Amino acid sequence: MTLVQHDADFDAANGIIDSEAPPHTPLAALYKQSFAYYTFRVRLPSTLDTIAKSLAKDKDELLSIYGADSASDIDQTAAAILELRSNILKNGPLQPFNDKEIDAGFWNAFLEQLPKEKRTYFATCWLYAECFMYREIWSIFISTRLAGFDYFRKQKQTAAQLSVEAMLAVANGTRKNERNLATFQKLMKLNLWGNRCDLSITSGKQVKPMGDAFDQVAHLDTNLLVDDTAVIWQTLEGSDGNGIVEFVFDNAGYELYTDLILAEYIIDKGLARKVRFNAKAIPWFISDVMAADYHWTLQFLIDHTQPVLSELGKKLKRFNDEGKFELAPLEHFWTSPYEFYRMAEVQPALYERLSQAQLVIFKGDLNYRKLLGDFSWNHTESFETCLRGFKPSNLCSLRTIKADLVCGLPPGISEQLFAKNKEWMLTGEYGTIQLASK
Ligand code: F6P
Ligand code: MG
Repeated sequence: MTLVQHDADFDAANGIIDSEAPPHTPLAALYKQSFAYYTFRVRLPSTLDTIAKSLAKDKDELLSIYGADSASDIDQTAAAILELRSNILKNGPLQPFNDKEIDAGFWNAFLEQLPKEKRTYFATCWLYAECFMYREIWSIFISTRLAGFDYFRKQKQTAAQLSVEAMLAVANGTRKNERNLATFQKLMKLNLWGNRCDLSITSGKQVKPMGDAFDQVAHLDTNLLVDDTAVIWQTLEGSDGNGIVEFVFDNAGYELYTDLILAEYIIDKGLARKVRFNAKAIPWFISDVMAADYHWTLQFLIDHTQPVLSELGKKLKRFNDEGKFELAPLEHFWTSPYEFYRMAEVQPALYERLSQAQLVIFKGDLNYRKLLGDFSWNHTESFETCLRGFKPSNLCSLRTIKADLVCGLPPGISEQLFAKNKEWMLTGEYGTIQLASK
């Protein structure tokens, strides 16, 4: 990892420890050899820089939407974003939110119970600090005339536009699907590898899916370190088909498209009566799906000049109108800092809703971090153990490995991969599909 200048001064002033997170402790940017440290020293400052620059670049467009009066709001917002950047680089405190948003109290109660000395970007658990940063960006915008603006919208839409070739190949390759284990496995893997395309790992730089997606699925099989697809198939195949599958979305663009392809299969083959999608309430980790991105994607497909995409879009929209696809009510828990094992205690209604599902599918790296509670588990510890009692229903995770935590690996695998590349956990080249049955 490329480290920044002046590290030594910063490290000494902030008690940075020159190691990875010790075994069985919360991950934190406090550990210099962790991805969290690099994230707060390099990646997130770069993300904030991009937001501030895009406000300047898109100023005319914003003025035409929000009115000439918003000029000073645009400038102030950009300045506040740069101030946030500088607070992070100074290891500033995580201050309570003073906006009027519905989740401000929920967040503030969470911050309040953190020990005072743990309320800074580098001292606290990585998960808390990173979620805080994305909520803070929202807070900056919400108190201006730009309230409600999705500052990541363009990047998400560009990601979808860049994926059309891959989308087309996938649509053509899935119109004659059959109800069997092999097809289900193929679609699950397609959906897993779709998670490689998130914009947050690259601080916003676009990643265009290249090559034939199905060839890649086969080719990447050796990189799939845990494959529970056969048991996941049984949880749906063996049901009466009248259940609900809950998807906890991750990224818009190509990944969302592969979510929809898997969901289409689940409905078409009678594996469930409804697929319910959980989107984010605020712009999140750059590429995460919000309700508007879901609707935009359906319309994007419908409007496409390629008939196969347009037909697919119309079909998915019909599923939506018939209630076979459904967007879950907005839920601020997904954009809170809470690990999932605390859901039953702090958001019992959501836990109860997930308990009604036949299967809950958690997508992506951040959801994985929340499932495992951003904790340095031993890599061979079981998925079940690491969930710390969180099991509303049958639950599975599809995740490409982009952060330095994992569990459930067969003995020896992690050591072999470290011997090949000491940064193997940060590349998104490896993946896991893990199930915890009810
Ligand atoms: O920044 C932390 C992180 O979890 C990365 O590890 C990952 O690149 C990104 O955020 C989000 O990934 P995903 O979109 O798969 O949740
Ligand atoms: Mg994401």
